[in-house]
Amino acid sequence: MSAIQKIKGFADMFPEDARAFTRMEDAAREVFTRYGFGELRIPVLERTELFAKGIGEDTDVVGKEMYTFTDRGDRSLTLRPEATAGALRACIEAGVVEPGKPSRYFAFGPMFRYERPQKGRMRQFHQIDAELLGSAEPQADVEVILMLQDYLSELGIGELSFELNSLGCRECRPNYRAALTAYFESLDASALCEDCRRRMKTNPLRVLDCKVPGCKALVADAPAIADHLCGGCRDHFSAVLSLVDRAGLKYTLNPRLVRGLDYYQRTTFEVTSGAIGAQTAVAGGGRYDGLVQLLGGPDAPGVGFACGMERLALLMDKQEAPRPDFFLAVTDERAVDAAVLLAHKLRTRGLAGECDYTSGSMKSRLRHAGRINAKKCYIIGPDEFDAGKVTVKDMEEGGQLSLDIAAFD
Ligand code: HAM
Repeated sequence: MSAIQKIKGFADMFPEDARAFTRMEDAAREVFTRYGFGELRIPVLERTELFAKGIGEDTDVVGKEMYTFTDRGDRSLTLRPEATAGALRACIEAGVVEPGKPSRYFAFGPMFRYERPQKGRMRQFHQIDAELLGSAEPQADVEVILMLQDYLSELGIGELSFELNSLGCRECRPNYRAALTAYFESLDASALCEDCRRRMKTNPLRVLDCKVPGCKALVADAPAIADHLCGGCRDHFSAVLSLVDRAGLKYTLNPRLVRGLDYYQRTTFEVTSGAIGAQTAVAGGGRYDGLVQLLGGPDAPGVGFACGMERLALLMDKQEAPRPDFFLAVTDERAVDAAVLLAHKLRTRGLAGECDYTSGSMKSRLRHAGRINAKKCYIIGPDEFDAGKVTVKDMEEGGQLSLDIAAFD
């Protein structure tokens, strides 16, 4: 009988890979705490309408990629494709989001999108997400961007590009949409892909985000949002740019950066790397004023980002396994229980290590102790057992000594 295999686009993670994720989580806790963010833990499953409403029916994420099913109570539920909508739902439900009273949260965990798997693109992937709610000021955008920059440099990841754009607001976006629609209508519509012919009417900004080469070519000459921003959005964006300049952040302006989710307004940003294949975005985010209200909360603004952990892992140095303090080998059957109890005592003293009570040769065990790079090798053989002793070999200095097992009580 063949063994059951994992689902396509889902991955198992063994310690060699999991260590990178632990490092990312530890670094996020450290850096984000410095910025006053607290950890939020939220469900992976939400009502489908949360994402349909929050992310937008016309996005690829909602239209094509969600893992949606009906539960036994006949409710339509969806495995979260991203964290922002759920984080806001939680904050609204708990009553902790208030205009003018900033609150800051971060969260990690698995997200699910039914995309075509490839290097750096999974159907179950993990994000580190951060959200700053309640502040409309451009300084909040900058704090969040600088926090992301600090975080990436804490992980030792260099050679990244920051791209920034403004998507305007409810006031000025309609003018831009009209200009885009007019531009696409002036073209031979058959040059656009089928999705974009529909998007042209429902949400022309989504055409800017299309990955189909024919559409990308047409988008190159499309009107730029920067020429259609209202005074408020222009002022907001120039305040953001001037402050990130003063903070010394290197970035490029990308007028085509619309992001794949409908909730963005004003500032959007993405961090990309040329070193991880076709999926270049390691993090993305922006301001989403209006989303809290759309989800039934107060009229509170917000700004945030998420990093893709699988993509960051591709850019990080290998995380070495921690070095064990001891490796304890038993070569006499009678000593097995005593060895387990001794290993337990060592661990309660804060030492880490393995106890090997298999029946391999001493040589192969010492080889294993060397492979795991144990600092000390403890051996209980027949002579040691009879004398109530343990031999301790120092694997660094090379010496050895004999200790009473009872001395560890
Ligand atoms: P997003 O750009 O859809 O934004 O995703 C953020 C990051 O998640 C991407 O830059 C990428 O690194 C990673 N990612 C996305 N899809 C996949 C996938 N299929 N496989 C591997 N990694 C992937 C959001 O999700 C927003 N909620 C970010 C945000 C927070 N905006 C405001 N607050």
